[in-house]
Amino acid sequence: MERLAIDGGTPVRKQKIPFHALDLGPEEAEAAARVIRSGNLIGNGPVTREFQERIAGIAGVRHAFFTASATAAFHVGILSADLAPGDEVILPSFAFVSIANVLVLAGARVLFADIENRTLNLDPASVEKALTSKTRAVVPVHYGGQSCDLEALVDLARKRRFEIWEDAAQSIGASFRGRALGSWGRFGFLSFHHTKNVSTGEGGALVTSDDQLARRAEVVIEKGTDRSAFLRGEVDKYTWIDRGSSFVQSDILAGVGLAQLDKLERVTARRRQIARIYLDGLAGVAGIRLPELRDGMLPNWHIFWILVDPERRDWFLAALAAEGVSATSHFVPLHGSPFARRHLPPAPPLPVTERAAASLARLPIHAGLSDADVRDVIAAVRKVAAHLVL
Ligand SMILES: Cc1ncc(COP(=O)(O)O)c(C=O)c1O
Repeated sequence: MERLAIDGGTPVRKQKIPFHALDLGPEEAEAAARVIRSGNLIGNGPVTREFQERIAGIAGVRHAFFTASATAAFHVGILSADLAPGDEVILPSFAFVSIANVLVLAGARVLFADIENRTLNLDPASVEKALTSKTRAVVPVHYGGQSCDLEALVDLARKRRFEIWEDAAQSIGASFRGRALGSWGRFGFLSFHHTKNVSTGEGGALVTSDDQLARRAEVVIEKGTDRSAFLRGEVDKYTWIDRGSSFVQSDILAGVGLAQLDKLERVTARRRQIARIYLDGLAGVAGIRLPELRDGMLPNWHIFWILVDPERRDWFLAALAAEGVSATSHFVPLHGSPFARRHLPPAPPLPVTERAAASLARLPIHAGLSDADVRDVIAAVRKVAAHLVL
């Protein structure tokens, strides 16, 4: 068996294959410069409006609001939906911390449900067990741009009367049964953080086809004022009319976002190609488990994850790094965090979450990878995995 680089053997690659890279070029710099030259850097200006229209088109919804982050977009969503203190909201523990934090700030009771093995997304059966008469909403995370079991969840929501607020932070360009992720619930939210497929550095968007929610949201994002109506010439001055805060982004970043959206189709297509090569090249490799695609799912492959023995995962990542491949773990389950243990209701056993979080390894996937890079990642994973099953 080939000696691993971690044990002094020759690495597959001397120069590390980067985990993530954005497709950035002169287009983004020119888009930002154009806004700066216009002298109008303010948020909610003409460039923001164009960006929002493009986002709404991609998400297949009537309204989109560009915000400082996905976290801020979620905050706008829950304020616009009038989440009340004491309302219960169920989300996966295998999720990003800021979403749970927004709920805590709003005084909601945060309850965790387990995920399913095949996609690492919320398990509707586990959600069902957590429902009570106080359940206001469920927040599914479409992990890595793969949809959760939306049909089962939507069905359950109809029967048991809760709202779905979709965490589509990782999911721009992904769909289920031809419908964009983020457009299935009462509202959804996207992220344009640096780590995402397309980015404005920091940024996010609230997306919804609920006109009533959108009317609230345009006030909430503008400090609780009717500034949006003022900009449309509907009122002659703007004033305080509702709860809200300063959630809008500068037109400079909206300009960058427009340049990034021009590349969305290309970067998504390349991610899909790479994922296909990984799925074929790693099929049947002993010691690793691959994601299983649900019928009707069209992921944007924000993440390509594999699962390995949790006892060996950290060693596996270190061995891959020594072979020249940057691979990483991900979410630490929220229910076991110091904050959750002190302040949230005790969680039920969440065995799939715990095992998946401890087993997960994310491989490099982005449009900057050449076919040779992808082949080398596969070679490194195969080489290291052979030592996992000794
Ligand atoms: C699933 C998920 N939800 C929410 C967020 C928060 O996004 P943002 O940093 O834009 O607030 C992230 C960010 O990584 C995420 O991965």
